[in-house]
Amino acid sequence: MIKKDRILAIDQGTTSTRSIVFDATGAELSVAREEFRQYYPQQGWVEHDPEDIWKDAKSTAIEAIERSGGVDRIAAIGITNQRETIVVWDRATGKPIHNAIVWQDRRTAKLCAQLKKEGAEALVTERTGLLLDPYFSGTKLAWILDNVDGARARAEKGELAAGTIDSFLLWRLTGGKVHATDITNACRTLLFDIHKQVWDKDLLKLFNVPESLLPEVKDNSGVFGETDPALFGEAIPVAGMAGDQQSAVVGQACFRPGTAKSTYGTGCFLLLNTGDTPVKSSNRMLTTIAYRIGGKTAYALEGSIFVAGAAIKWLRDGLHLITHASQTDDMATRIPHSHGVYMVPGFVGLGAPHWEPDVRGLICGLTLDATEAHIARAALESVAFQTLDLVAAMTQDGGGAADTLRVDGGMAANDWFCQFLADMLQAKVERPKQIETTALGAAYLAGIGVGLWAGLDDVTNAWERDALFEPKMDAAQRKAMIDGWHVAVRRALLQ
Ligand code: G3P
Repeated sequence: MIKKDRILAIDQGTTSTRSIVFDATGAELSVAREEFRQYYPQQGWVEHDPEDIWKDAKSTAIEAIERSGGVDRIAAIGITNQRETIVVWDRATGKPIHNAIVWQDRRTAKLCAQLKKEGAEALVTERTGLLLDPYFSGTKLAWILDNVDGARARAEKGELAAGTIDSFLLWRLTGGKVHATDITNACRTLLFDIHKQVWDKDLLKLFNVPESLLPEVKDNSGVFGETDPALFGEAIPVAGMAGDQQSAVVGQACFRPGTAKSTYGTGCFLLLNTGDTPVKSSNRMLTTIAYRIGGKTAYALEGSIFVAGAAIKWLRDGLHLITHASQTDDMATRIPHSHGVYMVPGFVGLGAPHWEPDVRGLICGLTLDATEAHIARAALESVAFQTLDLVAAMTQDGGGAADTLRVDGGMAANDWFCQFLADMLQAKVERPKQIETTALGAAYLAGIGVGLWAGLDDVTNAWERDALFEPKMDAAQRKAMIDGWHVAVRRALLQ
């Protein structure tokens, strides 16, 4: 009999879907990737077509399995996904009733502001660890129910199902048999009590969401269901699911309290493991669940920056300054300093620690000798400065300052950026050999779920470093640069 010792991870991100097959050592055997269309129906609105997401998840999964040598050795599937993005679908047909509303979408900013004014934020934060910001799913879900004809009445009758992307993919993969989510995705909805770990009746009432819409909430590791055999030729257990940032915590082996990772994808999300204690932030960081395995929960403090790689994508697609993201490394290296040019990338408002959905982006400090290299460098620097602001807030929160930050995601491949980050943080920055940490984390969760790996110790032992960056910038120069950044942020906030 052929040994089943490989895992397929499906990483459904904000701009692309990737499927990767890993072997039992955590090495990547094959990968397939598709970028998909973004819809911007109005200013500040961002939508995805869930059918595109499903089509790409299915086709990349089939391609990755084939390239790895076939389905025979696939032991399980792990799913990881852009968080907060919400889909509502018909239980009978499996068809979405509206496009997915994406985490970056700000259409519910007014509703959030009104609820804040009514004093609802304290309850929300106490139960969910989150803030009243349009970033999270709850108000987006209510928007769909209120704006799609007949949706609320159908929801009340139990005809509709809702879920984040993990849940939607699980439904489709299991041929409509399983409506479940994992705890890290549930805890980003504004509807889930992270202490009691149940859907919260008061919050369901506050956001006017019927509980019958919502999926069952499970641990990150364990069998969620089996795929419809028609999809891949045989039924495969889906045995791990996690939101992409929490999946990266697993892939980066940040299991001890005080360990931290920062993932530079579309946005940047820094999670600091705080162990079995949910640390309450006084600096507008989020308290979130890092993972729950075997019923044991680890919490994290999270800083969420909405624009990181998206700023580099904008240099490419909006400004046409570059044709490939990797060019920014050379551009930043070729000039001796930023020349006082700053970019505050508030393209979709600012996330932590400001949480200002209406702020716009800003480039300032321009002189006639500023070049495209200064703009590119300012974009890279802005991501490091924002990371510094998160670390400072978490340190003040007493989350236990990490002396080393593990980085991953596209921008982590940029050596100049990693060195600048180490200089700004005055901390070591470590880059792993496997930079697709998010997918790897989902693979580990699924592999643990079917017993391919015994547990998290195997992940810790398998983690390997590719590069270490240590701070070396002169203190006065560092201070001047950070002061300049804070002036630029104040200007952006004043607009
Ligand atoms: O919370 C949003 C986050 O999960 C999106 O991740 O990798 O698509 O930037 P990413």
